[in-house]
Amino acid sequence: MNVLVTGGTGYIGSLTSVQLLGAGLRPVLLDNLCNSKAAVLERIERVAGVRPRFIDGDIRDRALLDRVLREEGIDSVIHFAGLKAVGESVEMPLAYYDNNVNGTLVLLQALREARVRTLVFSSSATVYGDAQVMPLREDAPTSATNPYGRSKLMVEQILADLAASDPSWSLTALRYFNPVGAHPSGLMGEDPQGIPNNLMPYIAQVAVGRREKLRVFGNDYPTPDGTGVRDYIHVLDLADGHLAALRHGHGRPGLHVFNLGTGQGHSVLEMLQAFGRACGKTLAHEIASRRPGDVASCWADPAHAESTLGWRARRSLDEMCADTWRWQSMNPEGYPG
Ligand code: NAD
Ligand code: UD1
Repeated sequence: MNVLVTGGTGYIGSLTSVQLLGAGLRPVLLDNLCNSKAAVLERIERVAGVRPRFIDGDIRDRALLDRVLREEGIDSVIHFAGLKAVGESVEMPLAYYDNNVNGTLVLLQALREARVRTLVFSSSATVYGDAQVMPLREDAPTSATNPYGRSKLMVEQILADLAASDPSWSLTALRYFNPVGAHPSGLMGEDPQGIPNNLMPYIAQVAVGRREKLRVFGNDYPTPDGTGVRDYIHVLDLADGHLAALRHGHGRPGLHVFNLGTGQGHSVLEMLQAFGRACGKTLAHEIASRRPGDVASCWADPAHAESTLGWRARRSLDEMCADTWRWQSMNPEGYPG
């Protein structure tokens, strides 16, 4: 099976491509490299033993999509491509709607024309907005507090309308909780450009000496230790969830929505301690004020994915930290180039 992987050189797309190759599928990576490097292709080859086909291009380029779908004999799509920084989305809403919403529309139109009807989409737990009741089930109310979150909600709505209009489509929205970790070889992982926005890459850069200390955004939340609680999931578990969703989606019309999380929450201080254990250091931190837009707690009810896809997260918090540390210490500046 030939799987078009948009955003395929990015963090989750590249590791999902490794898992696709391991399962005997043929990923075709399409990425405009706006937030990733082509050097990842060599790492995929070292880890998976095969260099995947790569197309340097944009999902908004309809002519390119038409050609790729035809020439590569694409059967299904995993759609990761998009912009993902919440703060930046507030500054540049048009860029976010253009990449994430318009980009998806161009892709869906090309798929319709090429009669490719199976797509798995990267959604996010951000679509649950400022939810108060944990754990989150897929039928919890959705809302958005910023353009990034709104772009994910809009795409989910477009997918729902499309599935309702024509029963030949099989569309799956995967709502990721907090993906972290790296390939256990230490050859592939998250490579954020500039100062990391997210917790795990920030802690990893403190551990390797690139940043002085972690700023903990608030210790007065209604959580056991006062710091924010999230559902961190190993990126390879997440990648395996895509394979399960793709297999499930084939020949099953409709819109399918799944949480991909572990069902377990961990606080910022717990994460700092777990990472300290993995790297054998005490990591400096200071308490800072809350980050605007943050929720106190967010974790998944993953029961629907387990009962329907037969998938659940298997890797532990210690593995998430150990694998991130191996990647960070072997590649302190991320991928070359
Ligand atoms: P990433 O930035 O590492 O990967 C996204 C890739 O898409 C990048 O390689 C980028 O160059 C590419 N891209 C962006 N716009 C493009 C365009 N118009 N055409 C072609 N390529 C384009 O991010 P990631 O962490 O791997 O996230 C993948 C997807 O998962 C995104 O849609 C993101 O919103 C979603 N998601 C991520 C997280 C997370 O914490 N990482 C959480 C929830 C959802
Ligand atoms: C963030 C996004 C969310 C997106 C997700 C993708 C915001 C407000 N939310 O989620 O929309 O889907 O990333 O991964 O940006 N923290 C610190 N210090 C830091 C960084 C983070 O204390 O330097 C804390 C945060 O306050 C939070 C926890 O660590 O309690 C996790 O933060 P982060 O990794 O940014 O993820 P989310 O906020 O859950």
